[in-house]
Amino acid sequence: MTGMPLTGLALAGLMLTAAAPVSQGMDIVEHGTGSEASACMSCHGAKLEGNPALKAPALAGLPAATVLARLAHYAGPDGHNAAMRAVATALNQPERTAVANYIASLPKAAARPQ
Ligand code: HEC
Repeated sequence: MTGMPLTGLALAGLMLTAAAPVSQGMDIVEHGTGSEASACMSCHGAKLEGNPALKAPALAGLPAATVLARLAHYAGPDGHNAAMRAVATALNQPERTAVANYIASLPKAAARPQ
């Protein structure tokens, strides 16, 4: 038992998607996780509608699987964005899933084009 391969972890994350509490996701979006991950709102906008000045895209209404895939990308070896690398690596898998479910629950109408 020396750890699951990464693909297994990603699958486990997807399977957790239905169960993770949306309220925890809202808390992370609004307040971050203590000193580790900054509040998503601080860069992506109060309604996660995006903030062109910070080049932070709209997140509201993105499918949970997309959010999870992007977070895994930013935290992984190909992660190209320093801001999102710091955020993504600070979130554990249940936190990522909760955030992804919350984002997916938001109305897309809150998003505006960049
Ligand atoms: C310090 C600013 C900052 C914070 C805080 C932040 N982000 Fe981001 N985020 C960005 C930027 C900038 C990008 C665009 C990076 C790029 O060029 O790929 C981005 C991109 C993303 C993307 C990819 C969107 C897409 O359409 O490809 C997701 C998903 C995302 N962030 C989720 C989050 C979540 C969830 C949180 C909170 C836990 C968060 N971000 C907090 C700045 C931030």
